[in-house]
Amino acid sequence: MDNNVTSIRVGYQCPSNIALVKYWGKKNTGVQLPANPSISWSLGDLHASTVIELVPRQLGKAFVFTLAGESKPSFEPKIESFLGKIAHDCPWLSDYTLLIDSQNNFPHGTGIASSAAGFGAMSLCLAHIEQLLLGDVSLNSIVNGMSFWQRSSYLSRIGSGSACRSMFAKPAIWGETLAVGGASDLFAVEMDSEIHPNLSHWNDVVLIVDDGEKSVSSTAGHALLESHPYAEARFGQAQKNLNQIVAAMKHGDVKSFIEIVESEALQLHSMMMTSIPYYVLMRPNTLAIIEEIWRFREQTGLPICFTLDAGANVHMLYDGKIEETAMNFVNNTLLPYCKNGQYLCSNTGKRPNQIV
Ligand code: DP6
Repeated sequence: MDNNVTSIRVGYQCPSNIALVKYWGKKNTGVQLPANPSISWSLGDLHASTVIELVPRQLGKAFVFTLAGESKPSFEPKIESFLGKIAHDCPWLSDYTLLIDSQNNFPHGTGIASSAAGFGAMSLCLAHIEQLLLGDVSLNSIVNGMSFWQRSSYLSRIGSGSACRSMFAKPAIWGETLAVGGASDLFAVEMDSEIHPNLSHWNDVVLIVDDGEKSVSSTAGHALLESHPYAEARFGQAQKNLNQIVAAMKHGDVKSFIEIVESEALQLHSMMMTSIPYYVLMRPNTLAIIEEIWRFREQTGLPICFTLDAGANVHMLYDGKIEETAMNFVNNTLLPYCKNGQYLCSNTGKRPNQIV
């Protein structure tokens, strides 16, 4: 380790992501390991930008956090807990203070996985700093031969599981599965084969049904799977869906793709509704939008479907080839169901980039 370092400054922009097959439930061994494999598309236009400056330890502080230049004490416990959890993996951290400034290009609390983009961007900065301090990480024993992207993914997983899938342009798979080569519980990998053109240029419109705090956080929701009567069946189903969706993406089988994506969204919410205590995160307008999307697809036969994350908002996914028709549908039909007419648009399939 280079003890002469006085200051290093790096920055990364990292996309959020939307799961197609959902991570829902954690193994009861290890740190933040998924009970089943998941696959996602990164949302290149919904991202966090984070700059970290590393300076010699100041006032015994591990970090100082600002959100777009403003102090934000409510974010500090999560970051403190994250840095505590990776302390063993990154022993060099104890010599320094991290001056972290971050901002999202989408509003906080819109149900977009802001923690995925945020922990992703922070971890990219840390993996880069580590490389500068320790040399090529992939050659260093501390990181067990992981590549830069794998190391970033590994660290971000510890912050928030879904964050580890934000590192790749191609679909990202996290969790052990035979469906793709090199898949691991420790970090995500990108799909190892070409995606058929039918499924390689899709976009996402996030229809904001509710922008308030969720009644049950994802982390609490995952924990309820530990005593869930249907947990084992769900984990098996996710494995099966993952195999099938990878095949559908390779072969351009849009019909199977849509069936798996929508079924996964509804299974996720079914698991919430059958947890003890049970809870419902969908709202009347969530269902109204789903029904409109079904009606529209039935009438037009166009490649369009929905998915949900752990909240009330609806992600409408569609082939970029039908951009104009899809946006007309949003503006003419779906807008009245969105809170204050809000929605967010993103392409899928961009990888993070270095900004400083
Ligand atoms: C429903 O990654 O937010 O979005 O690992 O506890 O931080 P923690 O949970 P989180 O869970 C995301 C769950 C999901 C599905 C998914 O993204 O796969």
